[in-house]
Amino acid sequence: MKPPFVIELLANHEREKFASGSGPLDRYWKSQVTQDVRRHVTNCFVAVEVETGIIAGYYTLAAASIPTPDLPEVVIKRLPRYPSLPAIRVGRLAIDLRFQGKGLGSALLADAAARGLRAEAAAFAMLVDAKDADAVAFYEHHGFERLASQPRSLFLALATAAKALSAGRGEKKR
Ligand SMILES: CC(C)(COP(=O)(O)OP(=O)(O)OC[C@H]1O[C@@H](n2cnc3c(N)ncnc32)[C@H](O)[C@@H]1OP(=O)(O)O)[C@@H](O)C(=O)NCCC(=O)NCCS
Repeated sequence: MKPPFVIELLANHEREKFASGSGPLDRYWKSQVTQDVRRHVTNCFVAVEVETGIIAGYYTLAAASIPTPDLPEVVIKRLPRYPSLPAIRVGRLAIDLRFQGKGLGSALLADAAARGLRAEAAAFAMLVDAKDADAVAFYEHHGFERLASQPRSLFLALATAAKALSAGRGEKKR
């Protein structure tokens, strides 16, 4: 059976009708995202409904770093003493109003984590920027933790995400 959505790089998609209900995320989508992609400031991935070609959601992905002191002590203890650690940043994530509440937000986060794990430049964690308290709650629901000095930025170790991804695929531990 064909999957209902494909997740791919933003290219010549029909972008006009997308609306997530979040002003800043919709304005970014309409007027900024293609410039940022062109300037190599970010990549943008879209979930496209296969049957209709409608863009159901998007997220941006870029290289980032996390100041090590921002991480919880229990995490720092297991890491080398570098001043900062490499990460991938999901700067923006939005689902079209017609598709919210169907698991697509989770699917895009999982897709971002899988790309981070496959990337040739290592990343220790996925970093997200939450636009408000509701978004913080969404990320905390997915296991993200707040950075000490930036409470709207949250991280999830990619090793943890990898375990969740394998559990989701029903892979057994050897
Ligand atoms: C927030 C947003 C990305 C969530 O995407 P979605 O596709 O509607 O959410 P999903 O259906 O994938 O939800 C997956 C899980 O997260 C939970 N969840 C969704 N929104 C949540 C919230 N605000 N707080 C806590 N949990 C939330 C769901 O209950 C669901 O839980 P379950 O898997 O245990 O049943 C989407 O609603 C959206 O685009 N909102 C407007 C823009 C925005 O706020 N972006 C946030 C990033 S800054």
